[in-house]
Amino acid sequence: MKRERAYAIRGQGWPRPPSGARPREERLRRDERDGAAETGCRRRRPFKLKPRGRFIVLDGPDGAGKTTQVALLAASLRRAGLRVVRAKDPGATPAGRAIRRILLHGRDGSIAPDTELFLYLAARAELSARVIAPALARGDWVVCDRYSPSTVAYQGAAAGRNPAAVERLCRAAEGGVRPDLVVILDLPVEAGLRRMRRRLDRMERKGAAFLRAVRRSFLAQARRNRWPVVRADGTPKEVGQRVRTAVRGRLDR
Ligand SMILES: Nc1ncnc2c1ncn2[C@@H]1O[C@H](COP(=O)(O)OP(=O)(O)O)[C@@H](O)[C@H]1O
Ligand SMILES: [Mg+2]
Repeated sequence: MKRERAYAIRGQGWPRPPSGARPREERLRRDERDGAAETGCRRRRPFKLKPRGRFIVLDGPDGAGKTTQVALLAASLRRAGLRVVRAKDPGATPAGRAIRRILLHGRDGSIAPDTELFLYLAARAELSARVIAPALARGDWVVCDRYSPSTVAYQGAAAGRNPAAVERLCRAAEGGVRPDLVVILDLPVEAGLRRMRRRLDRMERKGAAFLRAVRRSFLAQARRNRWPVVRADGTPKEVGQRVRTAVRGRLDR
């Protein structure tokens, strides 16, 4: 009301407002067209905001349900209209798969512990450079099964190395490709073992003390980095709901 009157008065012979003081509606229309509505600053030329992809990592011990939940989360993000790339670390590229095969072979202790560590890092360097970075540059979302937190937990804390030193190596391997969000799936060691009963892998081989150290490391990393920890007990659907809540609460656009 008041504004209409002010314009009416101007219309009746008041001096034109200086160019910086355009009527509010006109200014807003122009700002919207020029992209200022999103950025809060006014620009002369129109520009398009590049959609930004997000990089989400699901990590945690074997049997926690990462692979199951990566699939559910990717499907749910796709239903929301996002383009989603699923990745697995190590893996996802020809070189990554080759490294994975060497690692699986080496589980009998035939490769030296440091070789194992550096192979995981090499696979990560390949994955971030060849899969994750290009996907994010396209504006896609990436949901990744394991990433550096696994190396810090398994090859770091649980293997008796200094986790901070392993973390520095991980930073180098990531090549600047950092997750926007890490969700840790947490499950008591015994429950994880029950889920994995049919699979002969490193869980059974390394023993419960190693697995407890792995779990402690994931939880310590989560505390230090303020990553959400999701309880991984319950049905896959229930866990999926918790994962979605954790993601939604932290990645709202
Ligand atoms: N919420 C769940 N409850 C019971 N079993 C599960 C659940 N999520 C996954 N599983 C089963 O447990 C095993 C390990 O799940 P998986 O998703 O492969 O875990 P991870 O990738 O963390 O090792 C699989 O056999 C899977 O079918
Ligand atoms: Mg898995």
